[in-house]
Order: sequence, then structure tokens, then C-alpha cells
Amino acid sequence: MSWLVTGARGQLGNAITRELDLRAIEYVAFGSDDLDVTNAEKANEIFEKIKPEVVLNAASWTDVDGAESNRDAAFAVNGDAVANLALATAQAGAILVHVSTDYVFSGQSDQPWEEDSPIDPQSVYGHSKAAGEFAIGKFYPERSYIVRTAWLYSEFGKNFAKTMCNLAISSEKEVKVVNDQIGQPTNAKELAAQLIKLVDSGARFGIYHGTNSGQASWFEFAQEIFKLSGADVGRVTPVSSGEFPRPAKRPNYSVLGHDSWASSGISPMSDWKSALQKSMPAILDSIKMQG
Ligand SMILES: NC(=O)c1ccc[n+]([C@@H]2O[C@H](COP(=O)([O-])OP(=O)(O)OC[C@H]3O[C@@H](n4cnc5c(N)ncnc54)[C@H](OP(=O)(O)O)[C@@H]3O)[C@@H](O)[C@H]2O)c1
Repeated sequence: MSWLVTGARGQLGNAITRELDLRAIEYVAFGSDDLDVTNAEKANEIFEKIKPEVVLNAASWTDVDGAESNRDAAFAVNGDAVANLALATAQAGAILVHVSTDYVFSGQSDQPWEEDSPIDPQSVYGHSKAAGEFAIGKFYPERSYIVRTAWLYSEFGKNFAKTMCNLAISSEKEVKVVNDQIGQPTNAKELAAQLIKLVDSGARFGIYHGTNSGQASWFEFAQEIFKLSGADVGRVTPVSSGEFPRPAKRPNYSVLGHDSWASSGISPMSDWKSALQKSMPAILDSIKMQG
């Protein structure tokens, strides 16, 4: 099946095109310069020309704090553009794979959020991503997958794992990291492979949770990165979120349940620690290359 990938220069965009290459799956990938997803006319034109069989929407407004003061821009990419992509994908008769977030949940729980748990976003970003989910439910639920992910990291772009790894190997300083937000560090490469598996399996359409298994606080995630980098884990100090006030509210408990995979006969993603261990060489290499 031939894929069309939007947001191809982001973390997930890079990871998915690499995984498609590895499997010799045909695709056309668009960065924001070639396909601004908020430009409905251009998107429709491209869809008509390419006639994709699978559309992966990896384009998103991802500046969580910036969304608080740029509501319209965040909603344009994460809500309105998703509505149009859903309509264009329906018109093409293709499968839509759309990526959403744990931030659609309130974070007020101590039990994993299930795929059908009620959503209750606490930030503009979360609301804008929820608008994207609603749009798909309204315009193209028949052949769409919504895959919620969280705490993504990879060797591409900027992310927490790369920042911590850089601090681990390039300084001797103490690093303060919050220990009162719990989630699932998620390897973008493994998520990309899981998305391909999902499409290939012909599993029922609907909502899936694309996060690595287990759970950790940002503090525990940082400790593991320091350990795998060969740095002194004692340099990582736990602090509360109150010490790092930020414009957007973060969920305290963002662990996502994985029942949909099992009911579709697909194994859930691996434990976050083993996924991190596998990706550390590529992360370390990317940091060394950046100098
Ligand atoms: N990163 C995380 O921790 C995380 C957590 C939960 C959910 N997610 C979800 O996972 C998905 C992938 O995230 P990511 O980490 O790969 O994000 P990312 O690295 O920030 O990539 C997002 C991409 O979207 C592109 N984009 C933004 N506006 C666009 C527009 N109007 N038209 C076309 N492309 C546009 C950006 O292009 P430019 O680079 O040119 O601006 C960027 O390449 C997103 O749906 C995100 O909401 C991510």
C-alpha cells in the first residue's frame, strides 16, 4: 500500500519514513513547506494527484506552552486541518492514521487511562488535539485509526531524552527533574513500527494507545538516561512541578492502557526501559554529531 506522510520532518515523521524505507513500502512524505496541512485546497490537490492508500498525519502543533497564547494557530493545525485531512482521506478511500496525545486526559487518576475513558483536556494543546479526534469521529470514523502517544523521544529533533543525554555526558552539574508527573517514555522508532503493524494487520478501526509499557516519572526517566550514558545517576535530583511553573498545565498521571492492541491480536509496545536501552546508541551518536 502506498503511504502519504504529513509532518515528515518531525520526530515521528522521520521515524516513520525510516521504517517504511526498511520495509520497502512505497510512500510520499511532505514537510510543512511542501504541504501545510492548514491549506485545505493544497492538501486536496495533493491527495487527488497522489491517490494515497494510507495517510499518516504526523503534522501537529506540538508547542504545548506556546499553544496557551496561540490558541487559533494550535486549533488550525490540530483541529481544523485534521477535519480536512479526514475528508480528503475519505474522498481518496484511503486509511487514515492520526496521532493524538495523552494530554486529552485530565491526569487526575492513579489507574491507566483506557482507550474509551472520558477525555477532559487541561490545556489549549490538549483541547486542540481533542478537536482533531472529534473531527475524525465526525467525518471519517469508518477507516481511521487514532493512536494516542506520549513522552516521545528519538535521535531526531529536540526531546527530553536527548536533552538529558547531552547534560549527562557534557557536564558534571546537578540536574533537577520533576518527580510528580507519571507517564510512559515512548520510543518514536517503535511507535512507527507499531503504526505500520496496525495498518498491515487490518485491525478494527478506532482508538489505540501507542506508548511503551510500564510507567515512570520524568525523574526516573532521567535517571535511566544517565545510567545508560555512563554518567553519575546521583546528579539527577527530584523536584516537584511547582519548582518549574509553566504556562500549560501538565497531567499528573498520564499512563495509558493498552487493551485495544490485545483485542486486535497485536502485541502492545515493549517495556519503556528496554526500548530506551535499544535507542541509546542512536541518541548518543546524534548528540556527538551535533558536537
Ligand atoms: N513529542 C511528544 O512527546 C508527543 C507526546 C504526545 C503526542 N505527540 C503527538 O505525536 C505526533 C508527532 O509528534 P512529534 O514529536 O513528531 O512532533 P514534532 O517533532 O514537533 O513534529 C511535528 C511536525 O509537524 C509539522 N507541522 C507543524 N505545523 C504544520 C502544518 N501547518 N502543516 C504541516 N506540517 C506541520 C512540523 O513542521 P515544522 O518542523 O516545519 O514546523 C513538524 O515537523 C503529534 O501528533 C503530537 O501531537 C507527541
